[in-house]
Amino acid sequence: MRTQVAIIGGGPSGLMLSQLLHLKGIDNIVLERQSREYVLGRIRAGVLEHGFAKLMREAQCGERMDREGEIHDGFYISDNGNMRRVDLHKHSGGSSVVVYGQTELTRDLYEARDKMNGVVIHNAEDVQPHDLKSDQPYVTYRKGDEVVRIDCDYVIGADGFHGVSRKSIPRDVLKEYEKVYPFGWLGVLSRTKPVSPELIYAKHERGFALCSLRSQVLSRYYIQVPLTDTVEDWSDDKFWDELKRRLPADVAERLVTGPSIEKSIAPLRSFVAEPMRYGNLFLAGDAAHIVPPTGARGLNSAASDIYYLYHALVAHYKEGDDTGLDNYSAKALARVWKAQRFSWWMTTMLHTFPDSLPYDQKLSQTELEYLFSSERAQGSLAENYVGLPF
Ligand code: FAD
Ligand code: DHB
Repeated sequence: MRTQVAIIGGGPSGLMLSQLLHLKGIDNIVLERQSREYVLGRIRAGVLEHGFAKLMREAQCGERMDREGEIHDGFYISDNGNMRRVDLHKHSGGSSVVVYGQTELTRDLYEARDKMNGVVIHNAEDVQPHDLKSDQPYVTYRKGDEVVRIDCDYVIGADGFHGVSRKSIPRDVLKEYEKVYPFGWLGVLSRTKPVSPELIYAKHERGFALCSLRSQVLSRYYIQVPLTDTVEDWSDDKFWDELKRRLPADVAERLVTGPSIEKSIAPLRSFVAEPMRYGNLFLAGDAAHIVPPTGARGLNSAASDIYYLYHALVAHYKEGDDTGLDNYSAKALARVWKAQRFSWWMTTMLHTFPDSLPYDQKLSQTELEYLFSSERAQGSLAENYVGLPF
């Protein structure tokens, strides 16, 4: 088999790039290790930047997002019961975010790929990129007993944090920066009316909590838990009780509880791999960088990688101009590090760190006080949350 661009990973990054390239007549194949049902069963991001939404529209996948997604002009930060609003619209010069689930967005991308007869190969086992430094790279995968070879011009590693792409870059070339946080987020999805029309990020001495949503009938809640906890440690009742304790009393009183339809724990990690290019392999999204979810930057950072890569590949194929490909790693990393900084800042300010010094606790408290006393500080939060320009 031969294609122009072989894309490893059928998550949002891989599918979005595949769709955008196809629309420009650039041939590509997506290789996904899991089944489609498995990919769509993962509950992840919920908050999208307008830049991401714009890219969805450009990929001709924005119709349902525009119909069903909610525009959010602000969110709340609760500090041990004291709730204050961050006005994103006012402080970002009129911008906002879109609340639309990653599951739905991925479903829309799959449907668009199907409609255009895009090639997305599921259950591709043992995917392996080869000869990345040569002009004739290729990718192999196994389906049952058969090993299939795909020759290509470029390989895109969009296979998430645990994928094979990053690992195929030699250790002496790749530099990895990592920070692991001493807690995780326990997330619950429930078919209940959200407790608040806007998100509530709650700082509390018992630990962080987040009230989010997917629609007016589907709620998504998270609480900070120790890394040693498992999902089995948390019955629905125990989860709701703990969430209520971390919210302001009037919010806790309004909270509608119900059976969880999904419950999972995500560890919090910051990670960046440099460079994002090795020969003819280009990394994108979680394959190259991870953020703790607090600032809602993960998927949005993946989108900016895809934006740069898409334009670079179009310039290569349509104009013979390789500047975009040559500058990809540096350009993507510049924005990635800003998302890292913002996610680290939000995480540090809002979480309770085990064994933290009283001095550090005072500082994170002061960070919040400063934030709400300064229009400029709120401006900085808002411009990062709605998304820095691509
Ligand atoms: P992935 O979604 O990980 O997709 C990679 C794909 O590659 C997967 O389908 C995987 O099966 C496949 N794959 C892996 N290995 C191989 C292999 N060897 N061969 C073939 N295929 C392979 N981000 C936000 O912007 N906003 C939010 O509100 C937000 N909330 C979050 C909440 C939680 C609880 C979590 C965990 C994450 C959140 N994120 C958020 C982050 C966001 O979900 C990720 O950044 C996003 O999924 C990255 O997309 P991706 O396509 O790069 O990687
Ligand atoms: C969601 C996740 C986040 O990390 C965040 O900051 C906001 C919302 C969510 O899953 O809805």
